[in-house]
Amino acid sequence: MPAVVVIGGQWGDEGKGRIVDLVAQGATVVARYSAGNNAGHTVINDMGEFKLNVVPAGIFYADKICVVGNGVAVDPAILLNEIDTLAGRGVSVANLFVSDRCHVIMPWHPLIDIADEKLRGAAAIGTTGRGVGPCFTDKVARIGIRTGDLIDPEAFRARLSFVLPYKNEVLTKLYGLPALDFDEVYASYSALGRRLAPFVRDTAQIVHDALDRDETVLLEGAQGCLLDLDAGTYEFVTSSVPSSSAGGAGIGIGIGPTVIQQVVGIYKAYVTRVGNGPMPSELLDETGQILRLEGPRPEIGTTTGRPRRTGWFDAVASRYSAMVNGVTSGVLTRLDVLDNFPSIKICTAYETDDGRTLTSMPASSVLLGKVKPVYEEVEGWRAPTARCRSWEELPQKARDYIRRIEALLQTPIDIVSVGPERGQAIVIHDVLKVKRP
Ligand code: GDP
Ligand code: IMO
Ligand code: MG
Repeated sequence: MPAVVVIGGQWGDEGKGRIVDLVAQGATVVARYSAGNNAGHTVINDMGEFKLNVVPAGIFYADKICVVGNGVAVDPAILLNEIDTLAGRGVSVANLFVSDRCHVIMPWHPLIDIADEKLRGAAAIGTTGRGVGPCFTDKVARIGIRTGDLIDPEAFRARLSFVLPYKNEVLTKLYGLPALDFDEVYASYSALGRRLAPFVRDTAQIVHDALDRDETVLLEGAQGCLLDLDAGTYEFVTSSVPSSSAGGAGIGIGIGPTVIQQVVGIYKAYVTRVGNGPMPSELLDETGQILRLEGPRPEIGTTTGRPRRTGWFDAVASRYSAMVNGVTSGVLTRLDVLDNFPSIKICTAYETDDGRTLTSMPASSVLLGKVKPVYEEVEGWRAPTARCRSWEELPQKARDYIRRIEALLQTPIDIVSVGPERGQAIVIHDVLKVKRP
């Protein structure tokens, strides 16, 4: 069976965790392939409500293999805490494996993340401050420390002996921060390495063994295309290498691009963003506040608790993300949030201040920050959808809205989510089985 990738089609928090939890039933392996604990994936099912930062959202099925792939930046203390919390709540972690090639978020990474943001001043990105960007920066600069090093005392000592003096120069001379003590870092991270060691494996082999058995591998993305280092609203993006886009999935898990045959793009029925950067359809008025607070789970960041910026569905940005990710199946989440709006707007183009109308995504964040959204307005359905479980049960105007988004995305919507709980969804097609060119 081929591998299926799940990606965020907007600025993150589209409900990827919630959808992976829903569809993982049909897979054998569920794997995270990028980012780190800047991600926060909420899952609500019969075991309770969970916020996952690193562990894949397939973990609630005891018979699934869950993999933290080589593309993920791992903060060992955070991951071990997540594992302990899950185990303490009765979730089996017996089939959870972490790649020996993951880069480790070391204590200097969050320090540099926060100090860098201060240095940027008004141009700050609004990072999560978790050290994820600096960890990937070190990966690219070839001064990273990997999980395989961390669990090998000799390799770790050798690597830390080279990297820490280098990093202490950066901490003290560039940022004016105190140096970190070698013995302290070595002792505390060796202890974390010993606890992590039982989970560490050559995970690419585990994934390939499943593919050889003709089993389905579900690849769980983090963030969203518009936060992607290449495709996103640069420089207000995240630094994940490999990218969280579909193209990064193969690299971040250790499979070739030909194995990935389906790409599931998750889209909110409107848009949100946390952190800074352009967002053409952002609503700074009361309507934006209603979008933020309406429904059972208000728009508050899962990882940082920051309020999310809100706006109408941006079809220009969303169509672009469907295009550059090769999305074959669309999923629309949080439709229920729009239940009480008398009318709903969809941004179908951008107008520049020199009078041009753009229908494709410009590269420049400066330009994007200045464009005005061009809206088309549709009538709301003003009826509850949270209990709808079939296409026919949805109000006609809600169906019209979904059809319009499908047309604008040029992608079929295969699942509509009408609430945060596992069962609150309308599955039109099984995204693991539907085959589209
Ligand atoms: P992720 O990062 O893409 O996994 O998304 P997050 O978990 O960060 O944010 C999605 C939020 O929306 C969470 O609070 C979910 O519980 C919630 N959610 C997911 N789907 C729905 C839905 O269809 N309706 C409502 N009201 N909430 C949803
Ligand atoms: P999930 O997987 C939403 C945003 C941050 C900031 C920018 C850079 O839950 O959808 P970073 O700490 O990565 O250097 O911050 O990216 N960001 C996210 N926003 N959801 C996420 O993940 C995000 N991960 C990073 O808010 O704007
Ligand atoms: Mg999230």
